[in-house]
Amino acid sequence: MLGRRVEGSTATTVRVGGRELLSFAGTGYLGLAHHPEVLDAATEALRRCGLSASASRTTSGNFADHEHLEEALAEFMGVEAAVLLPDGWLADEAVMEAYGDELDTVLVDADAHASLWISTALTRAQVIDCGSGDLMRLHALLDRHGEHHLAVLTDGLYPMQRRMPNLHDLLQLLPRTALLVVDDSHALGFLGEGGRGSLSGAGMKDSRVVTTGSLAKALGASGGFVAGSAGTVERVRRRAEAFAGTTPIPPAVAAGATAALRVLEREPVRVRRLRAHAAHLTRIGEALGQEHPQVSVPVLALPLPDEERGRTLERALQEAGMFVPWTQYGGGAGALKISVNSEHRSEDLDRLQAVLEAHWLRP
Ligand SMILES: Cc1ncc(COP(=O)(O)O)c(C=O)c1O
Repeated sequence: MLGRRVEGSTATTVRVGGRELLSFAGTGYLGLAHHPEVLDAATEALRRCGLSASASRTTSGNFADHEHLEEALAEFMGVEAAVLLPDGWLADEAVMEAYGDELDTVLVDADAHASLWISTALTRAQVIDCGSGDLMRLHALLDRHGEHHLAVLTDGLYPMQRRMPNLHDLLQLLPRTALLVVDDSHALGFLGEGGRGSLSGAGMKDSRVVTTGSLAKALGASGGFVAGSAGTVERVRRRAEAFAGTTPIPPAVAAGATAALRVLEREPVRVRRLRAHAAHLTRIGEALGQEHPQVSVPVLALPLPDEERGRTLERALQEAGMFVPWTQYGGGAGALKISVNSEHRSEDLDRLQAVLEAHWLRP
């Protein structure tokens, strides 16, 4: 099912049906897709390199802009190296292509993103659902399978469930030879020091950790990456067809993403604003009867399984000048999915709350 057709956007608005609406949608958590420095860098590279790399990185499609972004990402995250993939989904698959042969057991968090789950089809290892951040269950499973070659797959932040896995304790439990794959798509730019991700300061340099992510969220670009030790990156480059057999992101997008990283490094205040808005969103949720979450995140999914009621609320918000999509993500139960970014003003969230409170009980 397609969402509404968007004709244009800024960091906080979308044009839908010819009308400019205040947007509470998407995952551009830091509003960087529209930052002037990002657009200038992308435009310069677009003119210098054209629209596409037009070949894989292993042939003639390896541009300086790709390498600059990989270096900038590794430096920002405090790891030895990073490698780009065409998107975040393929980044998860690339890790499994690189390591899957040698694994006997793969433990996956029940809420892990579909890309992590689907990546397990690329290994012949036994795949075990280890529950939603259930460390006790994981402990028992590790006791049983600990001597095997094993990997644990988890997201670094679960925005829909509004929870964070306890990566620190997980690393304590993990055998020395095991692998911990963390999809940090939603944590990069939000968690950790200056938005350096879920493992920032605690575990990023652990050689058992492999981090993956999407550039299409806080960095406002497009593409994916695998980050970790130089050995991991080399392995992905050598073994993953998701890397060798695909055309990389356009050099212009890589240049834009590098500029976005620079802005993020220079302006940690964006991350602080985003966290303040996430806390505000938690209060809005509570005012509407939602439980207090384990962690405040920039996303709030208000469950509304009935499509007609969902669409009615979506329309009421639109009449009040706001864009908040009702979605049935992955065929699951319908919800009004609200997201905020660092460029919203506090008054924007107050406006949203007023309309939601007026309609929530009688959508
Ligand atoms: C946790 C997570 N991993 C991976 C992806 C896929 O990223 P991309 O859209 O860059 O393929 C997403 C996208 O929604 C995601 O939320």
